[in-house]
Amino acid sequence: MSDDLQKLKDDTMSAVAAAGDMAALEALRVSALGKKGTITGRMKTLGGLEPAARKAAGQALNELKGAVAEAIEARKTALADAELEARLAGERLDVTLPARPDASGHIHPISQTLEELIAIFGEMGFTVAEGPDIEDDFHNFTALNIPPEHPARQEHDTFYLPALAGGSRMVLRTHTSPVQIRTMLETEPPIRIIVPGRTFRADSDATHSPMFHQVEGLVVDETTHMGHLKGTLIEFCRAFFGVEDLPVRFRPSYFPFTEPSAEVDIGCTRDGGQLKIGHGGDWLEILGCGMVHPKVLENCGIDPARYQGFAFGVGIERLAMLKYGMPDLRPFYDSDLRWLRHYGFAPLELPSLVRGL
Ligand code: DAH
Repeated sequence: MSDDLQKLKDDTMSAVAAAGDMAALEALRVSALGKKGTITGRMKTLGGLEPAARKAAGQALNELKGAVAEAIEARKTALADAELEARLAGERLDVTLPARPDASGHIHPISQTLEELIAIFGEMGFTVAEGPDIEDDFHNFTALNIPPEHPARQEHDTFYLPALAGGSRMVLRTHTSPVQIRTMLETEPPIRIIVPGRTFRADSDATHSPMFHQVEGLVVDETTHMGHLKGTLIEFCRAFFGVEDLPVRFRPSYFPFTEPSAEVDIGCTRDGGQLKIGHGGDWLEILGCGMVHPKVLENCGIDPARYQGFAFGVGIERLAMLKYGMPDLRPFYDSDLRWLRHYGFAPLELPSLVRGL
């Protein structure tokens, strides 16, 4: 093969190898093998040669033509294969994926803690009662043995609404205790309720919010005594914190609506500034309680000579912060998704005593 022909072959072959798609390849085929193509052009010059030279040159050209046509076909197949591969990759479908994406919402720690409280007290036979966020003076204070001049009124940092026509002012309830009054006025003993709800006090820092949540408890019947109060709350503390032998202490205290009154402390340690609930030398206050004051029963038309009961009140945020190690109260109400994803709970996994809290 002449140098000249060899160069034509090399050029054409490397152009075929470099053709990036079918269109480029077809253009190349036309420019080499088409009617006006380079190789076809050479064929046409054979007529002017000597018979012997014509034979040799014709053979070489035919070989070249065959080799180029073959290379174009091979390249065509390779391009078609690559195209199919790319399409399959683009249309890839993973049939093992779940039919529905995973639920991405989270249960707020307040809701979770409340569900846990309901699970524990529900198991003990308590039902859930509710009352209004806006209360009158009678239910929020007076009937609970907090008369107008009582110093406990000052401690509550009450939000008052504008005065009504008669001069009285409604309040944003400062605790869930008014629902004790509503329940006792409406229902005959025996009573066994818990009352979750919003409460309001003009107070704001890392551990106080002007709006927060409490759960109230009330039991009234003819035989209830302090032992029932203690048994119920010890059981609650141990179930809620998941520590079977959690130390629980009842410390004498004062509330106008209970007599005697107590505050409940649970055992903890504070080694190296780290709070840990359980056995240890230290105590942590978590709730207030007591035997319902006879005057409160009387205010609700219940005969204190026949009936008695106990009550308790606990802050939900405080319980959640202690159980789940949350240092600051304020993000509870910020609706910050990062916080909710971190501290929130999986939906559809309701707490129950059987499956664990
Ligand atoms: N109402 C009280 C408060 O908000 C908490 C409380 C203490 C409720 C003792 C009770 C109780 O029912 O018996 O600080």
